[in-house]
Amino acid sequence: MKILVVGGGGREHALCWKLAQSQEVHKIYCAPGNAGTALVAENVRIAADDIDNLVLFADHQNVDLTVVGPERPLLLGIVDAFEARGLRIFGPSREPAMLEGSKAFSKEIMRRAGIPTGDFAVFEDTGKARDYLKAQTFPIVVKADGEAGGKGVVVAQDFAEADSAIRRFMEERIFGASGDKVVIEQCLFGEEASVMAFVDGETVIPMTAVQDHKRALDGDLGPNTGGMGAYAPVPAAPLAVVEEVTRRILRPAVEAVRGTGIPYRGILYAGVMLTDAGPMCLEFNCRFGDPETQVVLPLLTSDLASIFSAAVDAELETVPVKFAHRSALTVVLASGGYPGDYEVGKPITGLDAASKLDAVAVFHAGTRKNDEGQVVTTGGRVLSITATGETFAEARERCYAGVRRIQFEEMQYRTDIGYRAL
Ligand code: GLY
Repeated sequence: MKILVVGGGGREHALCWKLAQSQEVHKIYCAPGNAGTALVAENVRIAADDIDNLVLFADHQNVDLTVVGPERPLLLGIVDAFEARGLRIFGPSREPAMLEGSKAFSKEIMRRAGIPTGDFAVFEDTGKARDYLKAQTFPIVVKADGEAGGKGVVVAQDFAEADSAIRRFMEERIFGASGDKVVIEQCLFGEEASVMAFVDGETVIPMTAVQDHKRALDGDLGPNTGGMGAYAPVPAAPLAVVEEVTRRILRPAVEAVRGTGIPYRGILYAGVMLTDAGPMCLEFNCRFGDPETQVVLPLLTSDLASIFSAAVDAELETVPVKFAHRSALTVVLASGGYPGDYEVGKPITGLDAASKLDAVAVFHAGTRKNDEGQVVTTGGRVLSITATGETFAEARERCYAGVRRIQFEEMQYRTDIGYRAL
């Protein structure tokens, strides 16, 4: 199979790395990729959201299967465009991808399907939103309806904070049309987990649950980021919890989406809160998580290309999907200042030394090779160092040994990834 992976972060490097292990795959392209994907794939200079050129490329190169990493191309309709050209692609088409693209749509699906989730109300009118807030208890969650680069969710501790979120989202329109609607939602308490599943329109096969660390600093302090590290398995989300999430959250969502007329095919990611009343759905994403993928794929013992292919053909039940009974941990190395302003172009050292360590994989995110052949930083999240082990402690020790081999100016990372597992 010739495969095209769309995207250029740590998630896409992990996808290329895992696909490169498949006997079924003889060529991998990654668009646009990074310095790490170039080690296992051929990078193609096409942006992940340049759908017209991706279609042309896949067609001209006779790509057998395209796999989409980030949500943006999915929300722009990349799957619809590929399918219209008769090209095979793994991911949800535009409408079902609205499970991630519209918080209001997603909550309506949850309500319709009887999925356990926090109480909520949707508003297009600021006055009505504020009147509703006056009758609520705090903290409460205010979400901009559409895409906001991970910054559209505020946990408001009091009326003033919620009011400020409404003003910024709906009146100042800091996220443009994404703030035309807001969802105001009950705040849930407990441990969070990410449960991702392969879906072929009907069959839903969950992966090991993962716990992400969204805050920038140790102890879950500091601003929210795209994710500073993750680990699996999660003691608070053993197999029984994953099965419950599949039965009560993932399958009902897939069935409800099918009821709207277009089947959900691709990765369905449920962000769940493990509350005293059981798992409750916080959100859906329509793609693999980043950095969750860097943890879950090293644990997958089955052939990833065959899984994707079977899902595209609506035959997911015919392929094995197995995970090793091991632990995995990933630590994100970020540029100083991230998630705020940061400098790029910093040379990175120690990449080979780290990747030679036992059971360690160095996944690149914001990297590129400069004209002198040096790997330099290009983004906020730069690398994702993953290790596996028989136990969590072993994976953690190996992972941080890898982290200590690597250096770039102003590198920052969390030293406590997986602390809840201890
Ligand atoms: N790590 C969170 C996400 O991928 O959305």
